[in-house]
Amino acid sequence: MENHTCPWWLGYILISPVRRWLQDPAAIVRPYVQEGMTVFEPGPGMGFFTLELARRVGPGGRVVAVDVEPRMIAALKRRLEKAGLHDRTDARVSPADSMGLGDLRGKVDFTLAFFMVHEMPSAERFFAEAAEAMKPGGTLLLVEPPGHVKKEKFEDELRAAARAGLTLTDRPTIRRSQTALLKKIA
Ligand SMILES: C[S@@+](CC[C@H](N)C(=O)[O-])C[C@H]1O[C@@H](n2cnc3c(N)ncnc32)[C@H](O)[C@@H]1O
Repeated sequence: MENHTCPWWLGYILISPVRRWLQDPAAIVRPYVQEGMTVFEPGPGMGFFTLELARRVGPGGRVVAVDVEPRMIAALKRRLEKAGLHDRTDARVSPADSMGLGDLRGKVDFTLAFFMVHEMPSAERFFAEAAEAMKPGGTLLLVEPPGHVKKEKFEDELRAAARAGLTLTDRPTIRRSQTALLKKIA
């Protein structure tokens, strides 16, 4: 599996307001996130989606955002502080080969994996860790870019997700993306 990690400075481009014309964070996460939920966001970058997730879970909810790049997490923390959303958000740096989710086992209602699984050293390991952190009935929205993630590679990711016990339930439409909504059945 290809595991090229996006350079940290690209984080500034990914949070550009112009991107909202293509991928509106509020519209994308609205169907899946409610107040009080525990949300996991692997590979958040500088938080194009994280701020919206934190707003939606409200003061009684929690967002755990885990990234391998310390400069992404540092910028994300600054943005969360500025928006007054840091109290409900746990932004962590992880090693590349494990997201360190032992404390989240069976607690996550919703996981947003946006444009990041193709950067992981192993999709197999990614889905196994994510599935273990999810509640039974919890959902994971997988979104990958259509260009450098070929259709066959995306299907490989779905097979890895299925081996981790995540079932495909929908393919929501998001511009310039391949998508899958996955559910942990038990
Ligand atoms: C293309 S960016 C996407 C950022 C964000 N999800 C978005 O859509 O704006 C991919 C992110 O995944 C992170 N990443 C790459 N490999 C990782 C790993 N092994 N563990 C955790 N995060 C990783 C990168 O540092 C980067 O922040």
